[in-house]
Formats: sequence, C-alpha cells, structure tokens
Amino acid sequence: MPAPVYDTIGRGYVAHRREDPRWAAAVHRGLGPGRVVVNVGAGTGSYEPADRAVVAIEPSTVMIAQRAPGAAPVIRASASALPLPAGCADVALAVCTVHHWDDPRTGLAELCRVARRRVILAIDFEVHARFWLLDEYLPDVAETTRRIGPGADAIAEAVGATEVAPLLVERDMRDGVMGAYWCRPEAYLDPTVRANCSGLALADPSVITRGMAALESDLASGAWHQRHAALADLDAVDIGYRLIVAGPG
Ligand SMILES: C[S@@+](CC[C@H](N)C(=O)[O-])C[C@H]1O[C@@H](n2cnc3c(N)ncnc32)[C@H](O)[C@@H]1O
Repeated sequence: MPAPVYDTIGRGYVAHRREDPRWAAAVHRGLGPGRVVVNVGAGTGSYEPADRAVVAIEPSTVMIAQRAPGAAPVIRASASALPLPAGCADVALAVCTVHHWDDPRTGLAELCRVARRRVILAIDFEVHARFWLLDEYLPDVAETTRRIGPGADAIAEAVGATEVAPLLVERDMRDGVMGAYWCRPEAYLDPTVRANCSGLALADPSVITRGMAALESDLASGAWHQRHAALADLDAVDIGYRLIVAGPG
C-alpha cells in the first residue's frame, strides 16, 4: 500500500474534525435497522454509531492512532480490497472519503459486495466550487475542485442509490469541513483550520497565501461583510454535501 496521504495531512484531524450532531443524526437514520456496519475510510471514527456492531477500515496509521479508546475495532486496509467476506455486513458506511480513494470504482463495488445497504456522505463538487471562499478568494482551487471525482452523482449511480439528500451546513457546524465556516470567515485565516481540510491542505501554498491575504484585507475593510450581508439571515446553507443511501432498509 503506498504511504497514505492522511499520514501527512491528518495529524491534527481529531481536534478540528469533530462529528457534527446534525450530520450524525442524518447518517444514523440512513443506516436503517441494520446491526452490523462496516465504516470504510473511517479515519478517527466520526459518525460511527455507538449502538451497533462496527468494523472500521482505514489505511492511515496516523488516523488510526487518533481513534478514541474504546472505538470500534479497525482493520488497516484500502476500500479497493476489503478483507471481508461478501454480504458480511448490513450496511457499508463511507463519510467524506470516496474522493480520496486511489481506485473509487473498485472501492464502490467493494461496498456493494460486502453490504446490502450503502450510506455515503459525498460532495457535489460543482456546488462546492461555488462556495464564496473558493469562488471569490481561491479561484484556482475552485477549478481543481470542479475536476475532483467521483462526485455525488457518479457515486449515487455506482451504488444504485435509492435516496440522495442535501446535508446543509448550519451556522455552528462542528465538523471542520471546507464549508464549515461559511458565516465565520475569520476561521479560514487560521492555518490549523486549513490544515485539516484536504481541499485547502493539498492546494498550492502560494495560491492559499494570496487568497487568505485578500480575505484578511476584505474582513478588515468591511468589504466581505458588505458583500455577504444576506448570510446573516440564514440558518444553514447548501455547500454541496450529499447523503446517498442505497439498498433495502
Ligand atoms: C476526510 S477523511 C474522513 C474520515 C472519516 N470518515 C470522517 O468522516 O471523519 C478521509 C479518510 O479516507 C481515508 N482514505 C484515503 N484513501 C483511502 C482508501 N483507498 N481506502 C479507504 N480509506 C481511504 C483517509 O485515510 C482518511 O482517513
């Protein structure tokens, strides 16, 4: 297995990428009544249900080391070769991970092989690229984002989705995904926030430095607040996160 990317960018993950309770509730509803869950690309264990039997699959030792004591058992493996028998689980879960896989097509087929139901939190990258941070301050990253795959539509098709629902981002979102701070723009000036969001952590540092200087200047002058005054009235926004459910309950 090549050195996992998260061995480098995942070092501070658990401090910044805490499970959001509203997303967790939606994920857990999506799991249905199944009792045995395989969480693929499990990372530090966010969104794993406490009331079912869970086996986690994760390639990065840095991520595995941050799992809480008492978290579900973890197997160090890749989605593209799950060391599990066919049909062994009720549900396969994959949260914010499929676009990181080296071979997503095989990985998605693996989810279908091991579980009759699949629950995947994925991203519509076209919607994501229109988020103000990327659109206004990091246009190069927006362009790269548009080319990331697979997006939510392709994943939904690959796993035979029966439901696809937007997962909105609330004002006090706890999981520091790229869109988490849509109404707290100062947060993006913090390098530790950016380091725990792969779209920013993996971008060209000179592009990020330029974009963050422009954001800092707009925050100081009041230009950002003027341009985004309408955000003050919103409780939650759509930044492209999608919950995909496939298979019987
Ligand atoms: C953004 S993190 C998400 C972690 C966790 N699911 C969560 O929601 O916090 C992406 C995870 O996908 C894992 N990953 C990357 N390539 C993978 C692969 N080929 N198979 C399984 N997991 C992989 C990374 O190591 C990382 O832990």
